[in-house]
Amino acid sequence: MCGIAGYVGNKLSMPIVLNALSSLEYRGYDSAGIAVNEFGKIIIEKSEGKLGNLKSKVNNKLISSSCAIGHTRWATHGEPNKTNAHPHKDFGYNFAVVHNGIIENYNALKRKLKKENIKFYSDTDTEVIPHLLYLETKNKKITTNLMINALHNVVKQIKGSYALAILVKDLPDYIFIAKKQSPLIIGLGKNENFIASDVSALLSHTNNTIYLNDDEIGFITPNEIKIFNAHLKEVKFSVTKLTLQPEQVMLGNYKHFMEKEIDEGSKSIYETVKELQRNRTLHKIPVSVIKNCSSIHITACGTALNAGMIAKYILERDCRVPVFLDCASEFRYKNPIINENSLCIFISQSGETADTLACMELCKSKNAFCLAITNVVGSRITRLADFCIFTVAGPEIAVASTKAYVAQITALFCFVKAVARLNKKTLDYNEKDIIEVSKMLAEHDYKKELNDLVKKIKNKESVYFIGRGIDYFVALEAALKLKEISYIHCEAMAAGELKHGSLALITNNTVVIVILTQPDLIDKTLNAIYEIKSRGAFVVLFSQFKDCAKYVDYFVELKNTKASLMPLIASKPIQQLAYFTAIEKGNDPDKPRNLAKSVTVE
Ligand code: M6R
Repeated sequence: MCGIAGYVGNKLSMPIVLNALSSLEYRGYDSAGIAVNEFGKIIIEKSEGKLGNLKSKVNNKLISSSCAIGHTRWATHGEPNKTNAHPHKDFGYNFAVVHNGIIENYNALKRKLKKENIKFYSDTDTEVIPHLLYLETKNKKITTNLMINALHNVVKQIKGSYALAILVKDLPDYIFIAKKQSPLIIGLGKNENFIASDVSALLSHTNNTIYLNDDEIGFITPNEIKIFNAHLKEVKFSVTKLTLQPEQVMLGNYKHFMEKEIDEGSKSIYETVKELQRNRTLHKIPVSVIKNCSSIHITACGTALNAGMIAKYILERDCRVPVFLDCASEFRYKNPIINENSLCIFISQSGETADTLACMELCKSKNAFCLAITNVVGSRITRLADFCIFTVAGPEIAVASTKAYVAQITALFCFVKAVARLNKKTLDYNEKDIIEVSKMLAEHDYKKELNDLVKKIKNKESVYFIGRGIDYFVALEAALKLKEISYIHCEAMAAGELKHGSLALITNNTVVIVILTQPDLIDKTLNAIYEIKSRGAFVVLFSQFKDCAKYVDYFVELKNTKASLMPLIASKPIQQLAYFTAIEKGNDPDKPRNLAKSVTVE
């Protein structure tokens, strides 16, 4: 949902900011733009489409500024064209602004500004900010104090979310910043400082960072950082040392991040278990929270929600705890039954997903215990939660979630184990089994086995996935992954539901991919296979049960493990199927159309 970056120091700022934007491009790639302050003159360059377009445009421009801000956009207001691209400016080029978030009351602010004879050139919500700054500073001598007061007055008028970086014509060595709900991190250098939406853009320059809090504003110069709270009181900030290594956000020998991240899945399972064991994390959850909770509520979006479904199933089936599961965009609007005895679990790779965070705020307001499962230390979700379980997948760059999905399932399996222990229930797996699975995943690659299937489905308009029980949740994830990057219409169905309507879609050569990993569901799933086969479908089976291969047209053999853990085993071939299909179709698997990695708007 847009990435912002900035640099002020003693080096050429443009290449540094363009490089930082490359690391942030996963947040949006509808357009990109950069603004520099060249000795008191603001110059803005923008391009429609991916960052590469902007890079080629500015390549040969000799701009010698050492202060710049940049933006990579995921369009929310206004078409993804050059006019709507950030940075935005006022008419006198006094200010250049990049923004991540949504200004919900921008129409009211526009009306107010129009009364002051201010004309708008774009359809964006962001454009109101430079104009508001202009009004606040009109006919006044621009000083640091004046700017901080002006910014304070501007953000007071904004409803919504924002991470802002602002260049000021008359203060060439300053980047002003403000944050509410969207992430903004300062990177500390020697005679230089940086800002970015995400640490991945800072890693090659510094390990020392400051995470801005909501409602804070401030500025950075090459040698100074000042941060103020909502009451304009200067804030003492603390420096967070990053432990990430730059290689973790680089492609290395891989062509795409998605390919690299699928491969890293096995490591992320292993590291997640080990880290939870090392820190005894699950023993630190207050026992009363688990023992006394009246119900568990799991809330998440997309892939994280699919991971949550698996946990709900096992918690109810084996631990006998009632679990409610909702997608975050719906949860808030159903007036959920939450109270101080509810245990609310929020799963989010990024820890920044706006819908999930809004649900957490709601549950907190009802005094429920809020537990976050996230991959990003320091993310907003970690600061709101009562307790955090971290997945150790490392930075996930590709928009399609892969290694984070398996890490989420792993963390949930470990959490379920803790619930079972306290409730004196038995499960069919333990942590050692999970480690075994991580090894199995590292050993096997499905490229060859999937080759003909990829050719078969690449030109299909629709592909259907079916499964029962846990396999249905795997089917949901398989369909999400394939549609997200191949643009083929995919739908997952509970196998038993087919005959209640969807069977009407099955004709000669319709591709149906069946997930079958649960021994107690073989017969019932085979029934569904017979039904679709007799309607002429091309049936693909992902299963460890080799005996079932004879009933289908295409068989992908899975390794076998404890039944509950089979979603981890099935994750790799379903992710690779999506990846290879996208490649075969000539799509960019890392940056699928219309999407962005962190969905920081509701
Ligand atoms: O960062 P989060 O886990 O909160 O993100 C949730 C979804 O936006 C995300 O899983 C999305 O569905 C993926 N792009 C799917 O691959």
